[in-house]
Amino acid sequence: MLSISSRAIRHASRLLFANLPKIQPQVGGGHAFASAGKDAGAQAKTEADSGESRKVNENVQLTWKSAIFTCCVGGFCIWYYDYLKDRKESESRAITTQERIGVPRLGGAFELVDRKGKTVTDKDFLGQYLLIYFGFTFCPDICPQEMEKQTRAIEMLEAEFGPIATPVFISVDPKRDLPAIVDDYCKEFHPRIVGLTGTPEQIKKVSRAYRVYYNEGLKTDDADYLVDHSIIHYFIGKNGKFLDFFGKNMTAKEMADKMRGYIRQDQESTKQRKQRRGVESPDEE
Ligand code: NI
Repeated sequence: MLSISSRAIRHASRLLFANLPKIQPQVGGGHAFASAGKDAGAQAKTEADSGESRKVNENVQLTWKSAIFTCCVGGFCIWYYDYLKDRKESESRAITTQERIGVPRLGGAFELVDRKGKTVTDKDFLGQYLLIYFGFTFCPDICPQEMEKQTRAIEMLEAEFGPIATPVFISVDPKRDLPAIVDDYCKEFHPRIVGLTGTPEQIKKVSRAYRVYYNEGLKTDDADYLVDHSIIHYFIGKNGKFLDFFGKNMTAKEMADKMRGYIRQDQESTKQRKQRRGVESPDEE
């Protein structure tokens, strides 16, 4: 949208500046933007010289009309561009506000079913960082893209820290996403990915904890439907506490950079704690 409108502005301002300097000499020939050429200028001069003052006056009016018209178009484009910019800014402000309010209360305890049909809880994951994505295996395009992004981000961390963070997929389509289906789906992405599903009640609970929105939309028939859902990755600390979330606009690298920041911060504070203990322990002996 923005790129189109800025192109429109460029176009309009080119017209505007192409016309303005010609307003004076173009006295005779200013019908519209199109006639702003050499011929028109030449014609203008001959007509002005021959003293047809009434015609000249009409044409002066026409030129001014076209100048005013150009200004109006240009003005509108600038206004529209500002309007779009304002709207985009206020949208991003809304997201930041939501972020600030939402961060501390996300996540928490959950009970779900893994790819083998075994019940697992949040306690089973303590001691590892988690990158959780909520989606459904029948999702035609967005979920596969996001899962690939998740895998890439995890691999970037792997390259630096080893298998420090576990990718997790949680289904928001418990009716169709049975453990075996989730298992098949997850195999396509990352060897360490933990695919989770559950009863509709379990899924509702974990989605509520993470404020994940999902809704069965567009029901064509019983077996073939799409689930409308929020597209967010959640980064969870080793202590099971929520650290950050990453939206659809973020790239794998941006996600990895953010997660790396948290991991390094944790490693630094662990090191400092150890150093403090290291200094204290000789005193104690
Ligand atoms: Ni999806």
